[in-house]
Amino acid sequence: MRDLVEQLASNNRLDNASLGRLLAGCVADDALLQLLRDYAVRTAREQFGLGIYIRGLIEVSSFCRCDCLYCGLRRSNGSAERYRLTKDDILACCAEGYRLGFRTFVLQGGEDGTHTDSWLVDVVSTIRKTYPDVAITLSLGERSEESYRRLYEAGANRYLLRHEAADRELYNSLHPSSRGLEHRLECVAALKRCGYQVGMGMMIGVKGQTIDHIVQDLQLVSRMDCQMVGIGPFMPHSSTPLGGEPAGDLRLTLAAVAITRLMLPSALIPSTTALATLSPRGRLEGILSGANVVMPNLSPSDIRAKYAIYENKASWGKEAAEGLQALDEELQTIGYHIDYSRGDYNIK
Ligand code: 5AD
Repeated sequence: MRDLVEQLASNNRLDNASLGRLLAGCVADDALLQLLRDYAVRTAREQFGLGIYIRGLIEVSSFCRCDCLYCGLRRSNGSAERYRLTKDDILACCAEGYRLGFRTFVLQGGEDGTHTDSWLVDVVSTIRKTYPDVAITLSLGERSEESYRRLYEAGANRYLLRHEAADRELYNSLHPSSRGLEHRLECVAALKRCGYQVGMGMMIGVKGQTIDHIVQDLQLVSRMDCQMVGIGPFMPHSSTPLGGEPAGDLRLTLAAVAITRLMLPSALIPSTTALATLSPRGRLEGILSGANVVMPNLSPSDIRAKYAIYENKASWGKEAAEGLQALDEELQTIGYHIDYSRGDYNIK
């Protein structure tokens, strides 16, 4: 098994059967997981040193037309509290974020039918004019290529669109009434054609997901050669059909993060909020598995609780934009620090 880690580290790839054995091995064997994570951390340090990039997360709307089984914002959840930020709200978040030192803003939201191209283009171009030096990341789900192109031309640079599941059956079972996996991947291809730095990713431990599914996810992410990869544990939300399911496994999540780092050495990989919510040390453990990005919450404080993709989502303290100093102190306990630069994707 140790050979598999070394092979992965030196070739940036492994066949399906070996990847599956490695993932399963890491769940059972502490020393193996530790070895994998040590290689991943070494690779991340070669690429990024001890700096961790920060991204200010602005949750622009909790309305969503989708009905994903796992997500608290699904349209069938009648008890979800819905809100939508105005352009002025968003600009106020950017002003506060810029003052705090953020140089990337992430506009994330449900698939809100009122978010027309012209409204979004206006918001993005205003941010672009006001802050010429920031990166603008969008995470607004599936849109047309024309829409993606207009937003790119308005000044957006990056787009996060997790593929959620590379296996068609698993994808369909989690996403009723969606346009399917092929459409999802066409959106990713369209984003690349437009020129965005693109992020993909998936949850670990969602109902129906096997080790073989995770192998397919990792191979897809590697094949697509994406610039960003978000991986976090599934977290149950009681007002969804998966509310009674257990949360994803911490060790399996860390193994998936570490493998991703070794497959894509220069990728930008967040230590996700879901990891920080699952375990008090989750954020640090993600970094100690090769992650190099943290995304503190920059949303207006009165709406933070309403953006509940899962319950008890961390959005305060070190997960909050106001908590950057606490975050930096936490990072320092493992020898890291916040890197305030824009942190674009670079091929070394
Ligand atoms: N647990 C963990 N992650 C979730 N996401 C959505 N719902 C959950 C949940 N219950 C993830 C999805 C989505 C991202 C914004 O959050 O992968 O793409």
